[in-house]
Amino acid sequence: MTIIPLPDIAATQALATRIAARLRPGDVLALEGTLGVGKTTLARELLRALGHEGEVPSPSFTIIETYDPPAVRLPVVHADFYRLEDPAEAEEIGLDDYRHGAVLIAEWPDHAGGFGHEADCLTLRLEIAENGRQAIVLPGKGWLERLP
Ligand SMILES: Nc1ncnc2c1ncn2[C@@H]1O[C@H](COP(=O)(O)OP(=O)(O)OP(=O)(O)O)[C@@H](O)[C@H]1O
Ligand SMILES: [Mg+2]
Repeated sequence: MTIIPLPDIAATQALATRIAARLRPGDVLALEGTLGVGKTTLARELLRALGHEGEVPSPSFTIIETYDPPAVRLPVVHADFYRLEDPAEAEEIGLDDYRHGAVLIAEWPDHAGGFGHEADCLTLRLEIAENGRQAIVLPGKGWLERLP
């Protein structure tokens, strides 16, 4: 377990850049943490680091937003599962199909049943810190030799 201080958005951006360089299809980035802790901010910086230019809307209402090459280095599904009332709804909205060949960036992953059992899941647990935020990094097996 590693704790990474994120005192400001620039630090969030630096972390996102390091992770983005190591992403491959099938990965999950599980962004945990309370309301307003900075999950969408990190997702936005990840998408920018993967090449996306322009807006990154929060998927809090649409639940899923997709990004495809060539605008990004690899396909990305950005999801916010907050509004799911039951984890089974993730399957009903076609999450498995969206995920095929893509990276999943998941806010509120526990509302979709959680992804920590997947080897290629990197969990980033965001917390309020004395100075800005901090991220607790919890890598799945597939991330052990890939960690920045
Ligand atoms: N590293 C950071 N240091 C200081 N402020 C930050 C940092 N990261 C994000 N913030 C600020 O936190 C606020 C909320 O961020 P964000 O919308 O990303 O949270 P969220 O976790 O996605 O919230 P929600 O649970 O509602 O989806 C924003 O004002 C953002 O600027
Ligand atoms: Mg959000």
